[in-house]
Amino acid sequence: MPEAFKLGFSAFALPSRGVLVVFCNDGLHFGSETRDLLGRSLDMVRKAAAVERFKGKLGATLDIILPSELQVNRLIVVGCGQASALKGPDYLRLGGIAMGKIPGQAGDATIVADLPGGAMKAEQAADLALGARLRVYSFDRYKTKPKDDEPKPGSAQITIGVAEPGPARKAWAARAAVGDGVVLARDLVNEPANVLYPEEFARRAAALRKLGIAVEVLDVTAMKKLGMNALVGVGQGSAHESRLVIMRWNGGKRGEKPIAFIGKGVCFDTGGISIKPAQGMEDMKGDMAGAACVVGLMQALAGRKAGVNAIGAIGLVENMPDGAAQRPGDIVKTMSGQTIEIINTDAEGRLVLADVLHYVADRFTPKFMIDLATLTGAIIVSLGQEYAGLFANDDKLADRLIKCGQRTGERVWRMPLGAEYDKMIDSKFADMKNTGGRFGGSITAAQLLQRFVGKTHWAHLDIAGTAMSAPQTDTNKSWGSGWGVRLLDRLVADYYED
Ligand code: BES
Ligand code: MN
Ligand code: ZN
Repeated sequence: MPEAFKLGFSAFALPSRGVLVVFCNDGLHFGSETRDLLGRSLDMVRKAAAVERFKGKLGATLDIILPSELQVNRLIVVGCGQASALKGPDYLRLGGIAMGKIPGQAGDATIVADLPGGAMKAEQAADLALGARLRVYSFDRYKTKPKDDEPKPGSAQITIGVAEPGPARKAWAARAAVGDGVVLARDLVNEPANVLYPEEFARRAAALRKLGIAVEVLDVTAMKKLGMNALVGVGQGSAHESRLVIMRWNGGKRGEKPIAFIGKGVCFDTGGISIKPAQGMEDMKGDMAGAACVVGLMQALAGRKAGVNAIGAIGLVENMPDGAAQRPGDIVKTMSGQTIEIINTDAEGRLVLADVLHYVADRFTPKFMIDLATLTGAIIVSLGQEYAGLFANDDKLADRLIKCGQRTGERVWRMPLGAEYDKMIDSKFADMKNTGGRFGGSITAAQLLQRFVGKTHWAHLDIAGTAMSAPQTDTNKSWGSGWGVRLLDRLVADYYED
């Protein structure tokens, strides 16, 4: 972990040094705990708010240096708008905003988890803490000259003041595990492809063994034996060998069917022989974000000892052009027996997933499987970077994902599947072709995946827009956002744990 993050909980108390963060609503009202703590300073805060025209709108902040009557060196007031209307992701955001306002060298900082409607509940205080943790993440392991004037975030000791520290600590223990999962996913996505090639990715996944996860790594010989020619074909032009990693967390009942998560792990996507333009190609180091999310999720589930049996399976390849690379026009036989004509070697993610989806369905007969993939540029055209594309053969699973998206802020938008789209990938020479033309590009990609899931309940998340080159938010300043870890952890917690 690049930065130390020190956070604890204690009963409401006025700190005698460092930074104090409090919340108020859009009527400039404070919770009763906050009023008690601020005492005579409240008047000064109201005057400062008037000077700054601070109205307490959600996300607005008021920064008061050396507040009179208080011993802290800085008082930060964070607006929470209409406190009664705050939803799950808002607490995360408030934590991020608060953290963003705490200078690196602050030493100590105290955040008072209190709102006009009453003190925050344990879960809400834990979300505040998670937001703070995600905010301070930075990927700087390749910066050899730290800038002095850019204080390193996260070096402050954070105390969150709550009504009852016990339950808050317990809730945070689980949230912290999820935070570790997001951080791991971000690290993997941000890592350059000269460092993170399939074998190295597999090694990092194998490190989850220390959390009690069983990890199997299949090499090319093993995959060829299984007939995974679509996956192997994508990697055959690379100097780096492909890998398939299967992770198993058995926290549920013995013998109970697992749920399964599958990730596209294209460590670098040049496009292969159908090579991509140079402009922006460096972003394709992030084409393994689906696999990163699955590894981050497994870390989160094991870290918080989730009561569920879960499989994570990731197909790791590098899509490169060379003398051994596959060509447009090649036909490969997948593990399922179906054949695919390669029209465009840049439509490689679906080839990798075709074999992994079939393998997981066939070997584990999971309750459901969800795959994540930076699969198409077309989904970015459709949805931008705010929603991931959701495709599913199961309405109940789709609805649950949509609900968890709203609860976590990692939102998904359902896209259609259907016979008319499916026939767009019929091929003259093989059972199907790997592209369906210019129209509905993310849908025809999903149709190909669906041909490999059989009767298994399945959902596909196209995360090309959300997982990399992500918009900067109050809880994410990272290029790789770690998108999906919180969404899927929540799905497990809300619907699939004993
Ligand atoms: N990895 C890309 C999709 C992508 C594009 C992810 C931009 C993130 C940002 C994928 O392998 C790809 O190249 N898809 C092609 C498919 C086409 C050749 C049918 C695309 O979307 O253009
Ligand atoms: Mn591609
Ligand atoms: Zn790709």
